[in-house]
Amino acid sequence: MPRKSPPSRNKSRRAAGRKAAWSGRFAEPVSERVKRYTASVGFDRRLAAEDIRGSLAHARMLCAAGIITRRDLAAIERGMKTISREIEAGKFAWSLDDEDVHRNIERRLTALAGDAGKRLHTARSRNDQVATDVRLWLRGELDGIVALLAALRRALASLALEHAALIMPGFTHMQVAQPVTFGHHLLAYCEMFGRDLQRLVDGRKRLNQLPLGAGALAGTTFPIRRDRVARELGFEGICANSIDAVSDRDFAIEFCAGAAVAMMHLSRFSEELVLWMSPRFGFISLPDRFCTGSSMMPQKKNPDVPELARGKTARVYGDLMALLTLMKGQPLTYNKDNQEDKEPLFDAVDTLRETLAIFVEMVPGIGVHPQRMLAAAREGYATATDLADYLVKKGVPFRDAHEAVARAVRHAESAGCELAGLPLADLRSFSPAIGADVRRVLTLEGSVGARKHPGGTAPAQVRAAARRVLRQTT
Ligand code: ARG
Repeated sequence: MPRKSPPSRNKSRRAAGRKAAWSGRFAEPVSERVKRYTASVGFDRRLAAEDIRGSLAHARMLCAAGIITRRDLAAIERGMKTISREIEAGKFAWSLDDEDVHRNIERRLTALAGDAGKRLHTARSRNDQVATDVRLWLRGELDGIVALLAALRRALASLALEHAALIMPGFTHMQVAQPVTFGHHLLAYCEMFGRDLQRLVDGRKRLNQLPLGAGALAGTTFPIRRDRVARELGFEGICANSIDAVSDRDFAIEFCAGAAVAMMHLSRFSEELVLWMSPRFGFISLPDRFCTGSSMMPQKKNPDVPELARGKTARVYGDLMALLTLMKGQPLTYNKDNQEDKEPLFDAVDTLRETLAIFVEMVPGIGVHPQRMLAAAREGYATATDLADYLVKKGVPFRDAHEAVARAVRHAESAGCELAGLPLADLRSFSPAIGADVRRVLTLEGSVGARKHPGGTAPAQVRAAARRVLRQTT
């Protein structure tokens, strides 16, 4: 994952001697070691665009409320434009002396806009500022991730539609259980990713509340207009309590929890892709561009992408655990601990986004091997339940039917054939209720076709379900 390297020590040494914003209170400058330990600019500069957006909305509100003049506002807007350009061009001089993204930008603004720059921080603290920046940033990332989840569902549903009638073995306990269609199996993942999407969208409304105006913790004595700032920044409302506003990181935890569940689903899918493309299964193949070779064994084609997705799931769980643990011991309100929220959150966002993006590309490239799937479905007496159901429909109690079929399976096993391969007379020896019409029941096509209720694996149901997902995701 991209991690911005902290600014060089040389640069910070050159800048030493600059006056820190709180220096009036201190008898000596902070030690270099402490400076490096406490600085966050190495990673939180990623929030620069949101920091500037939030500052501009704050400044416009200050002006509208008569707290700063139009001239000051104009100078702030001009300065911020320059700063944005410098950052985009990679020319902004990030400095460790200014600790974090907020102070770096404010320092540069003051250099460009003079006293107007110094007035920007009126009625604001870095505590409500950082909470606002992180919410703004996460909202944008969340929207991108929701779009990727929709795209992945679409890719899965298209493949499911194509293979709505393709028979494969369904498994329980990793053993062949009952025949299903490949399309039906893929749509199970559409359901999972659909829930993941809804979870994130649901969390978005709690995320999308404005902390600014809370000040350091107790609010401010200035006649601020929080609703105005909220509207300008696209927040649905304002955080109702200033103490909660600066200390709450639930939104980040909720996002990471949703990300962890989504990664869990991606990991299960990955696990199946790895199994299915192993030569023992041979159900699918992945395009070469998603595989890698071995440095020693020339014949190998390894499913590195799904394996890594499975592996990266671990770090997203770690990110969630880090945030939960970060918050559990903090008394209200803001504590510097909170600065540690960013790297886990960034990592969870990056990992989920990149994993989803690669799956969106990979899924349409899945190559399917129908003969291998069919052969595997034939191996495990997958229609035994259908035979038992058939007997029940002829009046045999289910438990007796279960027992009769179990004995028939044992017989077929020793005869080395599938149930459909046994002569009718043999089958009848296990239950006289069996008639010639049993043949239809014992075929794989008959088995899946009979499960035609909503949620079932019958090809017609699978097609309808796939189309529903395709309609939802356009
Ligand atoms: N860099 C800090 C953070 O990420 C900004 C808030 C600092 N506030 C403070 N009172 N030290 O949390």
